[in-house]
Formats: sequence, C-alpha cells, structure tokens
Amino acid sequence: MSGVIIKLGGALITDKDELRTFRPEAVETLAPILGDLTSSGTRVTIVHGAGSFGHIEAKEAGLAGGHDPERSHEQARAVDSVRESMSTLNGMVVGILESNGIDCEVHPPREWAEGTGPGFTGDIERFKEPGKVHLTFGDVVDVNDSTRFGILSGDHLMERLAIEMEDTTLAVFLLNGIDGLYDRDPKDPNATLIESFTTDTSYTTSLDSDKDVTGGMALKVEVSTRISSNGPRVAFVNGLDGGNLRQLLTGGDYKGTVFERAKSHERGMDR
Ligand code: IPE
Repeated sequence: MSGVIIKLGGALITDKDELRTFRPEAVETLAPILGDLTSSGTRVTIVHGAGSFGHIEAKEAGLAGGHDPERSHEQARAVDSVRESMSTLNGMVVGILESNGIDCEVHPPREWAEGTGPGFTGDIERFKEPGKVHLTFGDVVDVNDSTRFGILSGDHLMERLAIEMEDTTLAVFLLNGIDGLYDRDPKDPNATLIESFTTDTSYTTSLDSDKDVTGGMALKVEVSTRISSNGPRVAFVNGLDGGNLRQLLTGGDYKGTVFERAKSHERGMDR
C-alpha cells in the first residue's frame, strides 16, 4: 500500500482577507478524487491551513510570539477563539468529504502535539489506523517553556507526517489558483513556472507578514526540500484544477512543480 499526503493551504480554502470566510470550491473538487484514491487502496492524509480562520486573530493577539505577560487575558481569549475557529473550519472541510462518502478521523494538534517548528513533538501513530482518511490542521499548541503556546503550521505537520509515515510516496501542496512555484512573483508577466525544483534552483518570494503568522511560500519550499530529501516526492499544483490534480494522483502528466528525491550523496537530512 502507498500513502499520499495533501495540504490544502489556508489561502485556498478561505478568503484570506475576510475574517472566517470559507471557500468550499477546492474541497469540493478534491472530494471525489479522494474517494477514488481511497477505494483503490491508497492511504490518504489531509492537512489544512488556517487562512482567515487563524492568521488574522492570531496576528492581532501576537500569538505566534507566545505568551506576553502584559496581554495575558487578551491572549488567553484569542487562543480559545482561534482554536474554536479552526475546529469550525475543519468541520466544514470534513462535512464536504463525508458527504462524498469519505470516512474521516480528525486529530486536532492541540490534543496531541506540543511545540512549534519542524521539531514539534507528539505521537503520530494515531494517523496510521487503516481504512480512514486522517485529517489535521495548523493550530495553536502548547509549548513547554516560558512561551507557553505558539502556532504550529500545517506545513510542519506535513513534514513530520510525510517523513515518518513510512509508506508515503507523494506529498502534495495545493495552491490557490497558481500552477506551482514561480521564479518570482507570479503576478509579474515575466514569471515562469519552476517545473523541477532542486537545491540549485533560485526563486524569489515575499511574505505578507502583516497577515501571515507562519511562513508563506518560503516555508513550503523549505519543508518540501526536507521531505523530498527523505524519500517522498513533493508536488505543488493548482488546488482549483481538478483535472490536473487527478492526473498527478493517478500517475499521468500534470502541470506543477516537483521536488524530486535528492541523490543519496546529496542527502544530509535522513532520519
Ligand atoms: C496556521 O497554519 C495556523 C494558525 C494560524 C492557527 P498554516 O500555516 O498551515 O496555515 P495557512 O495555510 O498559511 O493558512
């Protein structure tokens, strides 16, 4: 059996600028494709981001920087509120998948994960129970030092799950209306799609740190480089193009950016 892990970016499943506004299109596109994949015996894991169900409020309350003694009450309220919002968003994603006949099991990080960044801890055995699509999402998690809490990005969840679930062959990042990673801002008319990303590939990206409390495209690239150097192939594709996504998942030709496994002498991160 082989495994596929898919990240639905927050910008894809929400309107990033409108507080708590869900956009169902991408999940509706994905659901029937997932149904076919699971019936053919592929193990599927889904991670989703936060978009406007997390970043806006987390930013306002300074949650990414951890506990601030001068803002204790405000932050405590925001931690609860962001967690509740993330559960609401997750409920909408799961609702669409279940109405397509997909049996889902949700693992909110606040219940099993601690710490932020690639070294976060928590037992991922729970994702291995067969016969279900397991889901998790970027969340506010506890941190076992004076910062007390922080934001665990869905991209770091992707990294650990893709690397530590041994049968994973493919990790997919679904992007919001763009076909993959571009060598510069995709709005620039001279931008070209990077079809194959290697350690020598150069690209530029900017992070809208006024809105984003995690790492934007640069974090996805960093995480994808580590995933692919450990085995699974990584692909960035347009989350709104169902035909193309189906091609990728069924082994056909597709448009996107692929991170191929590094040759063994180039690998330095094997765990
Ligand atoms: C962020 O998770 C989680 C919160 C802000 C609570 P992600 O980093 O995975 O979210 P997106 O994909 O950028 O929205």
